[in-house]
Amino acid sequence: MTTPMKITGFLATLIIFAIIPIYSFYEPKNQESQLNSYYTNAVLTSTDLYAENCAVCHGAVGEGIGDMPPLNSESVQMMSTNDLAKTVARGRDNTLMAAWAAEEGGIFSNSQISDFVIFIQQTNWDYVGVRVAELGLIPPEVIEMEVSDEMLSSLVSIEGGETLTAGLEVYAKNCSACHGANGAGTTIAPAIDSVDLRATPKEEIVALVNDGVAGTLMVSWQNILTPEEINATVDLIYRWQDLLSTGIDFPEVEVMSIPASPELIADGQQLFNIACKSCHGIDGYGTRMAPALNNQLFLEETPNAAIYQIIAGGVSGTMMPAWGSRLNDYDLQSLVAFLRSQADTAPAIIPPILGE
Ligand code: HEC
Ligand code: HEC
Ligand code: HEC
Repeated sequence: MTTPMKITGFLATLIIFAIIPIYSFYEPKNQESQLNSYYTNAVLTSTDLYAENCAVCHGAVGEGIGDMPPLNSESVQMMSTNDLAKTVARGRDNTLMAAWAAEEGGIFSNSQISDFVIFIQQTNWDYVGVRVAELGLIPPEVIEMEVSDEMLSSLVSIEGGETLTAGLEVYAKNCSACHGANGAGTTIAPAIDSVDLRATPKEEIVALVNDGVAGTLMVSWQNILTPEEINATVDLIYRWQDLLSTGIDFPEVEVMSIPASPELIADGQQLFNIACKSCHGIDGYGTRMAPALNNQLFLEETPNAAIYQIIAGGVSGTMMPAWGSRLNDYDLQSLVAFLRSQADTAPAIIPPILGE
């Protein structure tokens, strides 16, 4: 029984001994270049993932945005490989730094996490900045929203004004940077002022805010805010329309203005026919595979920035791909311009799904 094994073992040993001298002759150079290409690959593959997932907080060149720490700093360079891997894999409790490892509820495999660590240790941040720009993922300017006395006084008169005030204060401090100072969404997060959300049961929204959405910028707020604060913010989501009816003066923040130039629209249409028509149908009328985009309800309800964000980020858990890594900023804007150009002629009723 054991004989064949032994022979194989012996043969293998012989072969290894025969090979070692030859191999070691070439080894130093070989190993070095292999190692180099290993590092180069890790850095290159991580660059796009960084652009898509991390740049929004840590900046296009790792400079850190607002309260978010830089990654291009000496103190991060000094961190041990192990600590870096742990931070990226598990995140930091009670902060906006989420856990990114699949086994912690994130979206990256362990080898992708190791690649991130090599990336952080070795990358050329100038190159990263160029790549982030190429992908159209330069982070938007941080929106700072302050709740002014006028805003508060416009709320006291309406029913439940106190909860709304509390909710608005939490929202301004914690949520507006991503969801927009007026709740209309930004290029990085969907609108909070949304008919769909208002039609969603409260427990579901509370659960979403408590747990966050793994693999996205929406972290778990459970340990950052108190249950009362979360409750007040969720109430605010349902009453956004009441808020607007007080004539409350939201700070004007131009999150995205897309010129409706005929050229941009034509480019968008051409790209739509190549990349989107197979699922969303001719002129966006929808198919069995994907919903109609050419409809009043969607276009009225979804600001440009939010459409841009959906196209760039995709809809996780569905067939809608994230196009951010494949299309640049101009392409994404052209698609939004094309979809927007249909607003005046779009059917008021969502067209029946085609292709049945
Ligand atoms: C929503 C914002 C956000 C995103 C997105 C984000 N981070 Fe962070 N990150 C933070 C914050 C905030 C901290 C600081 C946490 C703390 O206070 O300890 C941090 C800390 C870190 C640190 C430790 C820095 C230090 O000085 O200790 C590393 C490394 C890091 N992040 C890597 C990443 C990587 C890689 C990604 C993308 C896969 C990423 N982060 C995505 C917000 C973010
Ligand atoms: C760092 C950016 C960021 C911050 C800050 C943030 N969110 Fe989000 N939020 C997102 C993103 C991105 C999504 C979309 C997640 C997905 O793809 O499902 C989201 C989704 C949501 C949704 C679901 C929206 C929908 O239409 O399904 C709600 C509700 C929500 N966030 C509430 C909040 C509240 C309340 C706060 C503040 C306490 C907050 N968010 C702070 C980025 C953020
Ligand atoms: C492989 C099929 C597929 C392709 C290709 C595709 N989509 Fe989608 N898209 C979907 C699906 C499925 C949804 C619905 C996701 C959901 O359930 O929320 C969707 C949703 C959307 C939405 C949000 C619609 C809404 O009502 O919230 C937009 C905007 C969108 N897609 C734009 C595009 C654009 C622009 C392209 C081309 C660059 C594209 N899609 C290509 C499948 C696709």
